[in-house]
Amino acid sequence: MASAFSQCIEEACGRRQESKKDAHLCAYCGGLLEVKYEFDPFDPESLRFAWHQRRLSGEPVDRSGVWRFRELLPFVGPDDRIISLSEGSTPLVGTRRAGWWAGPVHLTIKHQGTNPTGSFKDLGMTACITRAASLGVRIVACASTGNTSSSMAAYAARAGMRAILFVPYRQISAAKLAQALDFGALVIEVGDTFDQAFSLLRQIAGEMNFYLVNSINPFRIEGQKTIVAEMLEQRAWRPPDYIVVPGGNLGNASAIGKGLRELKELGFIEKVPRVVVIQAAGANPFFRTLAAGSEKLLPVENPETEATAIRIGRPANWKKARRILEWTGGFCESVTDEEIFEAKSVLAEDGVGCEPASAATIAGVRKLVRSGKIERHADIMAVLTGHQLKDTDYVMRHRSSVEECRQRLRVEPNLDALRKALEGVLAVPA
Ligand code: F0G
Repeated sequence: MASAFSQCIEEACGRRQESKKDAHLCAYCGGLLEVKYEFDPFDPESLRFAWHQRRLSGEPVDRSGVWRFRELLPFVGPDDRIISLSEGSTPLVGTRRAGWWAGPVHLTIKHQGTNPTGSFKDLGMTACITRAASLGVRIVACASTGNTSSSMAAYAARAGMRAILFVPYRQISAAKLAQALDFGALVIEVGDTFDQAFSLLRQIAGEMNFYLVNSINPFRIEGQKTIVAEMLEQRAWRPPDYIVVPGGNLGNASAIGKGLRELKELGFIEKVPRVVVIQAAGANPFFRTLAAGSEKLLPVENPETEATAIRIGRPANWKKARRILEWTGGFCESVTDEEIFEAKSVLAEDGVGCEPASAATIAGVRKLVRSGKIERHADIMAVLTGHQLKDTDYVMRHRSSVEECRQRLRVEPNLDALRKALEGVLAVPA
């Protein structure tokens, strides 16, 4: 059977970790860790066939878009209980207007909003909570801008674990908070930013014996990397030119890169798509760091963006993500909140809804095509990370003013008033 171990990512260290308990940082140098495998040799062709066949199976592990690819996750033993909510298997959706607006480019959406709790976090969470269950963990914790917490709350409930989440006070959307409460999580509102809440949690987690499920936990990355296998399978194993993701704590970009690297090493693909990360202009530490060529992270102390999911000033995984951009020849761009709103509106014209952070990807593609960094007519996969209903406050703020978009009218309950109102609106071309 394949063997798994954790290893420090720092070039100067790179040591394997010996502890039986999960640590999130290297015991020798404090660097980030990743899960590595000595894979058993296998034939990509027969594995592709097996993965495809599992789609027809009724078994929950086969139907999960993460565990269907379990040969890529051999940290799980035959007796481990898999904690799954049938995550993954998310659709590819073609675009017309959005691809034209952003390029023209050949733009396809991988919509992660159809996951059980409405975001891509479910892919990582099923892996991480499965791992935690195998270690007999009782309390899991995370700091979050909202989606990690909803996801953790759901999977912890399923596993019979207590879930504790640290969120910045009044900085996460009501819908995400409601999800976590609904799943019975304990919500600690602390600090004004995600970075503050995360820093406090990291300091207290050890003494409270909390098992941390933020994306510095390398098992989160293991689940999230399977998006690449699923996406490539849906594309008949033809890699796109670019994969574009929004960047917050930079776990997702790291996971996609790890997935690509393993699939290349294992002989599933030849060509490697460039990974592109888009940040919001008010919360763009990674963009600034790369632009300055700095060896140290240039944090943003008071991150500010309406795309609250990615309002992060000190991304924990920035070194992993930098390595991926270097390896794939990718880059990072930064877009304003206005550009994000415009992109979200154009996606809506294609009938595609998402949360604001997700729309940053399309805004970023447009900017990169205009600056010549991405070529016109390129084949682009944009990952939309969260569901439209994750942040309805945002939509109501931007969309419901009668003067601006004439989309919402209050009408007296009689036919004359209705006729008048409708004629008035319909006379103006949409
Ligand atoms: N998009 C959405 C909808 C998110 O919720 C997040 C992160 C990202 C993009 C960025 O992904 O952190 O892997 O770079 N949300 C985290 C949370 C931080 O707590 O839910 P990343």
